[in-house]
Amino acid sequence: MSNNSNLRSSKYPINPIILNRTSKRAMSGETLSKEELMTLFEAARWAPSSNNNQLTRFVYASKDTEHWSTFLELLADGNKIWCKNASNLIIILSRKNSYYKSSDQRSHSFEAGSAFENMAIQGTSQNLVIHPMGGFDYAKARELLSLENIWDIECMVAVGKPGDVSSLPKELQDSDNQPSTRNPLDQIVFEGIFTEK
Ligand SMILES: Cc1cc2nc3c(=O)[nH]c(=O)nc-3n(C[C@H](O)[C@H](O)[C@H](O)COP(=O)(O)O)c2cc1C
Repeated sequence: MSNNSNLRSSKYPINPIILNRTSKRAMSGETLSKEELMTLFEAARWAPSSNNNQLTRFVYASKDTEHWSTFLELLADGNKIWCKNASNLIIILSRKNSYYKSSDQRSHSFEAGSAFENMAIQGTSQNLVIHPMGGFDYAKARELLSLENIWDIECMVAVGKPGDVSSLPKELQDSDNQPSTRNPLDQIVFEGIFTEK
């Protein structure tokens, strides 16, 4: 049995929202209401974490506010081009140390990733663009937020209302029109023994 959704197909049937989540770039420039935005953080908040440590944090800027241009400036040029039409830019942070043991929490990045995916799935259900980005200046972001060493910067996320693909530069239009595919399961799943393929 397979599943088809949004031009993507899975070998085994899965919830269609998983296939429908993509990292689109075309956004309309409209802003999200506070409620729409907070709903994304609400979803992220319910992600699992080791010992329920809850080490992930979200710092956001909204279009047309005092923080917008400094957040946008952090981005690589290739991301700025389309992120200017986002409603919000989010920086995801994680705390490297556990609150319960005064020691490193190895899973802090894993937990932040889980929180992001919750947000992405929720946003997909709200028909929003939720696009993670590593293309930004991590050092400048650290400086901007006056982060102490205990905090890691994980990712930035562009959030917005979907827009017209024709508003994107030509070279970016294809990936919005054609969702990416994935490696087959037998390349990523192993029973008992791991062999690099
Ligand atoms: C950690 C991370 C960093 C990424 N950085 C960027 C980025 O800087 N710019 C960009 O356009 N997309 C970025 N992406 C999006 C990926 O290109 C995208 O997730 C991948 O091609 C798979 O496509 P999909 O998300 O539509 O399934 C990033 C994704 C992740 C998870």
